[in-house]
Amino acid sequence: MCGIIGYIGHREATDVLIDGLKRLEYRGYDSAGIAVLNGRGIEMERAEGKLAALQAKIKKSKPHGKIGIGHTRWATHGVPSERNAHPHRVGDVVVVHNGIIENHAELRKQLIKKGCQFRSETDTEIFCHLIHSELKKTDDVGKSIQKALEKVRGSYSLVVLYGKEPGKLYLAKLGSPLVVGLGKKENLVASDIPALLSYTRNVVPLEDGELALLTKNSFKILNGNGKSLSKRVNHITWTPLMAEKGGFKHFMLKEIYEQPRVVEETLMGRIQPDSGRLILEGVNKLFGKKGFPFKQIAIIACGTSWHAGLVGKYWIEKLARVPVSVNLASEFRYADPMIGRDTLVIPISQSGETADTLAATHLAKSKKAKVLAICNVLGSSLARTSDATLYTHAGPEIGVASTKAFVAQLTVLYLITLELAKRQGKLSKEALITQLTEIRKIPQHLTKLLKSAAHIKEIAESLVNASHFLFIARGPHFPVALEGALKLKEISYVHAEGFAAGELKHGPIALIDEGVPVVALVPKNETYEKILSNIEEVKARGAHVIAIGDATDRDLSEKVDDFIAIPKTDYLLTPLLYAVPLQLFAYYIADHKGTDVDQPRNLAKSVTVE
Ligand code: F6R
Repeated sequence: MCGIIGYIGHREATDVLIDGLKRLEYRGYDSAGIAVLNGRGIEMERAEGKLAALQAKIKKSKPHGKIGIGHTRWATHGVPSERNAHPHRVGDVVVVHNGIIENHAELRKQLIKKGCQFRSETDTEIFCHLIHSELKKTDDVGKSIQKALEKVRGSYSLVVLYGKEPGKLYLAKLGSPLVVGLGKKENLVASDIPALLSYTRNVVPLEDGELALLTKNSFKILNGNGKSLSKRVNHITWTPLMAEKGGFKHFMLKEIYEQPRVVEETLMGRIQPDSGRLILEGVNKLFGKKGFPFKQIAIIACGTSWHAGLVGKYWIEKLARVPVSVNLASEFRYADPMIGRDTLVIPISQSGETADTLAATHLAKSKKAKVLAICNVLGSSLARTSDATLYTHAGPEIGVASTKAFVAQLTVLYLITLELAKRQGKLSKEALITQLTEIRKIPQHLTKLLKSAAHIKEIAESLVNASHFLFIARGPHFPVALEGALKLKEISYVHAEGFAAGELKHGPIALIDEGVPVVALVPKNETYEKILSNIEEVKARGAHVIAIGDATDRDLSEKVDDFIAIPKTDYLLTPLLYAVPLQLFAYYIADHKGTDVDQPRNLAKSVTVE
């Protein structure tokens, strides 16, 4: 969704803002803008479309100054256009905003009645007018912002530049992320950490309801009652290089190739295969030394993270025999879920900022459930809300389509499964040692699997003209099939659906016609024969079958039109491997079509509004 950057220090603000906006591009946007303050006043440039359009304008007339704010906008209220692009300005008040003002229509009417003239269709301009009106009564900018916020319902992260105070940036946060970056004789603020990494790795995330004042040498955070707060500074280990493309054509491809390392780093320090030990942060505190003090588990997540949760349910119920429900956060938050003290809630989120997942987590906490989050971003809102967090050490994920975060989430879910199975007395020490030994081999299997990229590319490119695809699987691979279809839809704009193979006869088989591609996930397990029958059924109706199966499965490879081989591992771990060819398949189709792979149309990296 929208991205925010603010700078105050000794550098040319325009350069820092543009650099920051580039690093926020992955969040998804349709217009961008900056405002810089100097001795002559406020200079603003805004443009519809990609950053290149803004940069072209800046080339002609570069705003100079050492303080400024910038924004990438993902339209919610008002079409993508230059006049709706941020920053918005009324008098000397300039604002960039992420989030949604729910009572904007009502406030707009009131402000128009009072004589305010709106220049955009955005809800954000309301903030400018409200703050500007308050500043007619007082010269205290902080208080004026506070008064304006009191009138607003909704979510926001806000950076205000006031033309009459050239050394200050004002910040406010409620429900949408905002992180302060502390440098030497310079300070920054951004909606997301990658925008800060070239300047500092010392960050302080703001909490809901907080206001902050940033100068080049200081920062002060106040709670809603005006009380000054002292904050711990977090040191981020991500490097700027981790957020670069590193020679790959797209971030998505780079992130697919990072998966062996991601799994390795996610396992690092958490498993000791020799002794059968698992060390999961915060888990002993939450569960106690022995046993499992909850009756049920409720997983909550959205999109790809929800697919990871579905695989997790299969694993946990199979190995640990604890009942698990997997809930779409957007539904859960408005349901009346049957959870309470007896429930362990596991929210899964790459960003830790997804609005629905956060709201669902707050609901779970209000019902006294305990929360163990799986999250990729240190210090994110989700991590701060949860009782404990198991981080996926995937590093920054820039491609909008989630890849490495999914595989990292599966890795953590598998470790949780083993921990629960051990605590439930369902797994002997020997079996645990075997499992830990097997999971440690996953990075090398992934490396081997990535060597089939050229073969997968060939298959993908032969199918670029197909207008819809079916993905079929059973058991823990059914959610992987859903994930494969989602990847294809979101980056190549082709219709794709994932189905539990046994459901084909209940309707979807009507879609099969001559040449329709069906991607079948066919690991060797107890349902192997069943899915072979499903393949026969679709083939008999003309489908073009691409099977993904065990490397040694000659029978399968001879039966189908295309075959992708998966290295041998324990059956339960196979979802970690089967996900990868599906990512590559979607990537190569999209790349061949020439879509914007890293920033597909209409999508945003983290969905911080409902
Ligand atoms: C798809 C994708 C999304 C996210 C979803 C949740 O490729 O990335 O479906 O998985 O928006 O995001 P997080 O995990 O950040 O809560």
